[in-house]
Amino acid sequence: MKKILITRKLIKDSEDKAQKIFEVKLNSNDELYSQAKLIELTQGCDGILTSLTEKMDADAINKLPKSIKIISNFAVGFGNIDLEAAKKRGIAVTNTPEVLSDATAEIGILLILGACRRASEGIDAARLSNWKWSADYLIGKQLTRSRLGILGMGRIGQKIAKIAKSLGMIIHYHNRSKLSADKEQGAIYHDSLKSLFSVSDVLSICCPATKETVNLINKQTIEYFPTGAVITNVARGDIVDDEALIDALNRRKIYAAGLDVYKNEPNLNPGYLKIKSAFILPHLGSATKDTRIAMANLAIDNIDEFFNTGNCKNIVN
Ligand code: GLV
Repeated sequence: MKKILITRKLIKDSEDKAQKIFEVKLNSNDELYSQAKLIELTQGCDGILTSLTEKMDADAINKLPKSIKIISNFAVGFGNIDLEAAKKRGIAVTNTPEVLSDATAEIGILLILGACRRASEGIDAARLSNWKWSADYLIGKQLTRSRLGILGMGRIGQKIAKIAKSLGMIIHYHNRSKLSADKEQGAIYHDSLKSLFSVSDVLSICCPATKETVNLINKQTIEYFPTGAVITNVARGDIVDDEALIDALNRRKIYAAGLDVYKNEPNLNPGYLKIKSAFILPHLGSATKDTRIAMANLAIDNIDEFFNTGNCKNIVN
């Protein structure tokens, strides 16, 4: 029986499933392991089921025992893992695509609604019961008829596009390549960031964090947006230069931001906390019971498939 380390506590059904297939080291207290502890715990293991809270950089990967053949990440994103370092060590890295697209797209829409309709300010006022209705009280931006730019039109981007279209938004997108007409569903393709940003009343960031996408939203690219645009991010914090976005929010170049992900989570840039127009959530994209079970099961199946066949459809390196 192969032996695996599961670095974070999973929903019980998923841990039970893993225990039927593998000899498993569980983390019953859901402790956040230091790199040193994690490496120590992998001794004697054949694989690791990691979460996005584990930073598997080249240094950590190079210290793993030779017996480790697979790192199965419990996430669709894999920015926490140095893919090249893993490949050099002959370690396969897998992710959990598809199963979280619906839940993540729902949060993507919540970010758009929350930022455009000033939900943070509204929630604060309602909790304090101190608001005074007037014709111009907490006026926000209407979604109907406004233009939504989608950066990264993969499964999550396409799902957000579909829901946003039903809300009356006009969809534009930028992607590595233009999609086929059935996937585009009438969305308008832009072959450059500048072209997309310049027509985005609202932006939804849905692309993976890679070396190419780090700080794509920065001092220079923010200027491409119409004044008063809204920027939302359901993908990864690394894509946004926080200082540039905070500055743009403060000077009202950008009207509002809707954020679920941050650099250096959970220690988000404190600048966001002072901005009323920042609608911020604690990385809830895939946080529904059905989705978390489906993700964990897929992460387990990825390891099983890999050890049974020597391959896995969800290898990303
Ligand atoms: C969540 O953020 C994921 O990448 O699965």
